[in-house]
Amino acid sequence: MIILTVIGARPQFIKASMVSRSLQNKGIREIILHTGQHYDDNMSKVFFEEMGIPNPEFNLGVGPGTHAEQTAASLKGIEKAILKEKPDLVMVFGDTNATLAGALAASKLHISVAHVEAGLRSYNRSMPEEINRVLTDVISSYLFCPTHAAIENLKKEGIREGVHLTGDVMVDSLYHFTKIAENKSDILDVLNLETGEYGLVTIHRPSNADDRDKLFRLMNALNQSSIPLIFPVHPRTKKILSEFNLEYQMIHPVNPVGYLDMLLLEKNAQIIVTDSGGIQKEAYLHKVPCLTLRSETEWVETVEDGWNTIVNDKFEKLPELIKSPPKPHQWNSHYGEGNAAKTITEILTNH
Ligand code: UD1
Ligand code: UDP
Repeated sequence: MIILTVIGARPQFIKASMVSRSLQNKGIREIILHTGQHYDDNMSKVFFEEMGIPNPEFNLGVGPGTHAEQTAASLKGIEKAILKEKPDLVMVFGDTNATLAGALAASKLHISVAHVEAGLRSYNRSMPEEINRVLTDVISSYLFCPTHAAIENLKKEGIREGVHLTGDVMVDSLYHFTKIAENKSDILDVLNLETGEYGLVTIHRPSNADDRDKLFRLMNALNQSSIPLIFPVHPRTKKILSEFNLEYQMIHPVNPVGYLDMLLLEKNAQIIVTDSGGIQKEAYLHKVPCLTLRSETEWVETVEDGWNTIVNDKFEKLPELIKSPPKPHQWNSHYGEGNAAKTITEILTNH
């Protein structure tokens, strides 16, 4: 069996890492195609190196652009790769433009698509990711769902065939690499941080980062925090922030960090403030309270259990919420036990 894995953005390297390892263990030939949507060393190369992901055999060098530009360039390059390599299956992850391009290119060539992280929904169609997810799920043959809620979402859309509950591959990565990070990462010393005495912030959704006034309001609210906030700045957000040229006493911007450093920063934080999908769930897995800078979340279990609070754009509440977030009331292994990649590999090899 030959599998073409299509990835292109930071969270996809993290999602693909343990699946790739598991396919290798089973002796399955995997060809990795990187669309090149993310291309800075600290947005791409560092993950391949730290997580031992095999080098991509294709890199399309797509880079920045509009949605149509990125998706179209990816689609063309993926089609060429499929025609050359003739894979039995194309595997896509999550909800980026690479996900949709991979699924579309494959399905038009009558190649089965496996979607890892199928069935997630925000029910907010103004998010580009929501469009990518809905369309990808419709044309996938294998829908690997991280949660029961994802399966229910698919049912509502009439999708029942090929649906499997596998758990979440990000749990596999987090459990595996947190142990390694504890030995290898010195990020707390480098940034002079004490466990539990700082907050961790990330911002990259267009709904926050591309709206100058909103971002300015958000930064000013965060700067009222009673604890220092470490802020690895996504390149989308960096572009706009550099125009403000403002000094913040409580916010400490740093370049995007590698996965091992990120895991330790998350695990030792008093609180996480983010608009990232993956980081909300990682906060839950590390049992760190999270404040989400969005109007809804796909990871509904984190909110139901009290670990995650949807702040929406009520940024004026942030200083108080950072000081005393709502108390969580339960924790469950909603996202699996860390063997999602193995389950996915077994399903693929048994079909
Ligand atoms: C993309 C995904 C989003 C995901 C996020 C993870 C889509 C539609 N969006 O959003 O779902 O949550 O990745 O981080 O696929 N840039 C650099 N260097 C890089 C990468 C990006 O400078 O290595 C800059 C470029 O100027 C680019 C901007 O960041 O224009 C945004 O990058 P892009 O990949 O278009 O979108 P993301 O916001 O990263
Ligand atoms: N991440 C990282 N370094 C950073 C910021 C994020 O390694 O500086 C990791 C994070 O731990 C998570 C993933 O990147 O596993 C989340 O990616 P991102 O927030 O870019 O995208 P999203 O999950 O929102 O699609």
